[in-house]
Amino acid sequence: MLRPATFDDVEAFHGIMRDARAMAFWSTPPHQDVAETRNWVASMINIDPGEGEDFVIELDGRVIGKAGLYRFPEIGFILHPDAWGKGYAREALQAVLDRAFTIHQLSIVEADVDPRNDASLRLLAGLGFHETSRASRTWNVGGQWCDSVYLQLSRAQL
Ligand SMILES: CC(C)(COP(=O)(O)OP(=O)(O)OC[C@H]1O[C@@H](n2cnc3c(N)ncnc32)[C@H](O)[C@@H]1OP(=O)(O)O)[C@@H](O)C(=O)NCCC(=O)NCCS
Repeated sequence: MLRPATFDDVEAFHGIMRDARAMAFWSTPPHQDVAETRNWVASMINIDPGEGEDFVIELDGRVIGKAGLYRFPEIGFILHPDAWGKGYAREALQAVLDRAFTIHQLSIVEADVDPRNDASLRLLAGLGFHETSRASRTWNVGGQWCDSVYLQLSRAQL
């Protein structure tokens, strides 16, 4: 199930955002404390509806991750490692993309992925995204420079 975030989700998200495996290619280092995750959840809750929408992914009443367009037209997603490899990210993103192109009438959806992030690249390729360009030293994460692969899915492609 996809649903909006609430502050009751902070603890579950902290279990994801402090996990070094889940955060290996994220734009920030793993969260150090719950306060950091609370701020991150607050930013999800406070997205202006005209500027983006982000969803909690819930499975059998448990929070397993998030997926959404945190800033139109850019897609973002993260799942707890226990939930990886079962098709949940693909299912969640398919719903997010359907909304992007129908309800929000976006003409494109974009993604910015670390080139080492095989799981995300394969996931996005499977959804029809194609690479548009690459750039070096785009993110400084905890003192280490990381690169970007930019991908795009256009409504016209569907
Ligand atoms: C990326 C992520 C969301 C994938 O979630 P998931 O639920 O395991 O993905 P799915 O099970 O829906 O798999 C989708 C596709 O990705 C592939 N995939 C998943 N994990 C993979 C891995 N580690 N290596 C290669 N391919 C992988 C699957 O085989 C599947 O491809 P297929 O349809 O060709 O079989 C998850 O690995 C994650 O949360 N990573 C950390 C956060 C992150 O990097 N977010 C993106 C930042 S841009």
